[in-house]
Amino acid sequence: MENVALENRVFYPPADIAESANAKADIYEWAKKDRLGFWDAHAKELVTWFKPYEKVLDDSNAPFFKWFVNGKLNVSYNCVDRHAKSHRRNKAAILYESEIGKKVVLTYGMLYREVNKFANALAGLGVKKGDRVALYMPMIPEATIAMLACTRIGAPHSLVFGGFSPEALRDRINDCQAKVLITADGNFRRGTPFPLKQNADKAMEDTPTIEKCVVVKNAENEVNMKEGRDVWYHDLMAAAGSYCEPEVMDSEDMLFILYTSGTTGKPKGVVHTTGGYLVQTQATLKYVFDIKEDDVYWCTADIGWITGHSYVVYAPLALGTTTFMYDGTIDYPDKDRMWDMAERYGVTKFYTAPTAIRTFMKWGTEYPKKHDLSAIKILGSVGEPINPEAWMWYYENIGGGKAPIMDTWWQTETGAFMVTPLPGVTPLKPGTATNPFPGIEVDVVDENKNPADVGYLVVKSPWPSMLRTIYGDPDRYVDQYWKRFGDMYFAGDGARRDEMGYIWVTGRVDDVLNVSGHRLGTAEVESALVECEEVAEAAVVGKKHEVKGESVCCFVILKDGFEGSPELIDKLKKHVAVKIGPIARPDDVIFTGSLPKTRSGKIMRRLLRDIAEGRAIGDVTTLADPGAMQEIAAKYAGKED
Ligand code: WTA
Repeated sequence: MENVALENRVFYPPADIAESANAKADIYEWAKKDRLGFWDAHAKELVTWFKPYEKVLDDSNAPFFKWFVNGKLNVSYNCVDRHAKSHRRNKAAILYESEIGKKVVLTYGMLYREVNKFANALAGLGVKKGDRVALYMPMIPEATIAMLACTRIGAPHSLVFGGFSPEALRDRINDCQAKVLITADGNFRRGTPFPLKQNADKAMEDTPTIEKCVVVKNAENEVNMKEGRDVWYHDLMAAAGSYCEPEVMDSEDMLFILYTSGTTGKPKGVVHTTGGYLVQTQATLKYVFDIKEDDVYWCTADIGWITGHSYVVYAPLALGTTTFMYDGTIDYPDKDRMWDMAERYGVTKFYTAPTAIRTFMKWGTEYPKKHDLSAIKILGSVGEPINPEAWMWYYENIGGGKAPIMDTWWQTETGAFMVTPLPGVTPLKPGTATNPFPGIEVDVVDENKNPADVGYLVVKSPWPSMLRTIYGDPDRYVDQYWKRFGDMYFAGDGARRDEMGYIWVTGRVDDVLNVSGHRLGTAEVESALVECEEVAEAAVVGKKHEVKGESVCCFVILKDGFEGSPELIDKLKKHVAVKIGPIARPDDVIFTGSLPKTRSGKIMRRLLRDIAEGRAIGDVTTLADPGAMQEIAAKYAGKED
């Protein structure tokens, strides 16, 4: 065994999981034989419909697909009411702990009452079906309550990650023309409050559509409340009625918008709808994390990202699971904080990102060793390819060598898992997401759309939780995803297949970076840089990073009259962090006299990446000025930071 390279080792499903798993091997045959029948059965089993749908899939206007046509439902009803009215009434829906140790338990019955009240409060502020509501929130139960309250009254929400800057928040609010913003005074980061409301105030200086701002008192830091606009969450709740009739929504009514980075400077508002999203998120969680009645499930993702939407809020609650939420840093007060909580709450299913695993790995095994993690049955990974070393570390030290790792490949756009093992069925190899989920048709193809061992990841047929469009820009939806490979969906990732037929996702092949599992467009960083008066031109690439996966590396041409200096490097880094958010802060800024461009003027980022990662420079024959690369390489070698 020892001579076998890590990525070739095979780990078979543990017998106990295989025996009792929700999904057995025959699920693949079923889905293959009757793909739409498979989804039909799950839509019937997993969703409570107010009115049954008439057709599973309408593909007459591709790529604008419709699922569960004319079905009527409400997502908050599915996540809360049906459990609050069942034996799960007193079951914990949300277990929450804050960084400073505040603990909250909300049973399904309690969550039901909170969601109803806040839905009434929102309606009282004038929010109606179809109105957009922006959320800029910490990982607190009120965030979940607010999301569910929006869905109850049919108002699509748009969450903006709390780590984003005021400008990023402003642009997203303005793009979707939100009427109300929900935020909090602050949240604790390493013991000190982070001023969320202050950021929101800055954003709201220039958001003409915002009429009201609801503020949750969370960190007790000083905030300004603007007369007539700002209202306290607790005041609204004290006055709100206890029952709010759930809005009857169509399968294809918009559920939420979530902005994500693309290949231009402008983030894309990914639109998800109601029926298909609720079906696929539940089916995937049920089978991949093998959800059982007594689970304590913990997904560490922030609710501001798609993983938080689908697998902290919607799927676990719709399935009636107990979901654990933590708001805070992973090393406060010490580096065993996560394992301390996993032990205290008896976590059975744990889902996190490779960048976090690599951080834990760097800290050493002494921290998980301090705690009893034996309740953990299944582990998960998402956000970027997991390197085999991190996989093994996770498997041995967190899973105790007995918990299979579900490496789940999916995207903001896909809404739910697409390529993933099944815990009771799939032999695992460290570093591969293995097979498409049953009922999902994913392939690896070459430029000519033919199946290939190495190439591009595509989805060959529509799936229930797929994005439906880009908010306000259907042309961009078509161009971005449905042009390059004909009628197949292009994910933007490269992939290869191994001899077992497993899919290995190798990373983005477009101009999107993946920094600590967060998507960032090179164009977003470049446009932040060229805003600075000193900068004439900038090219940004991702550079391999031990912990973050990729770091932001910028090549900058200064305007005449300006000189590069350590101070200027600092200033540019700070500007990007302020403009987009701390996650976008560059690790490297290199001043150069030119950039490698093709004769048609396109920057060849591939060559810059070669320099940043210390490789021999690739083919330069298509460059307008082949000599440019020597100069840039020399500048990189002598960089000052
Ligand atoms: C990457 C996160 C390899 C990929 C759910 C994708 C992964 C992008 C994996 C989507 C994985 C996510 N293996 N790569 N298991 N999971 N990715 O929209 O490049 O934030 O296109 O959604 O993350 O990032 P997003």
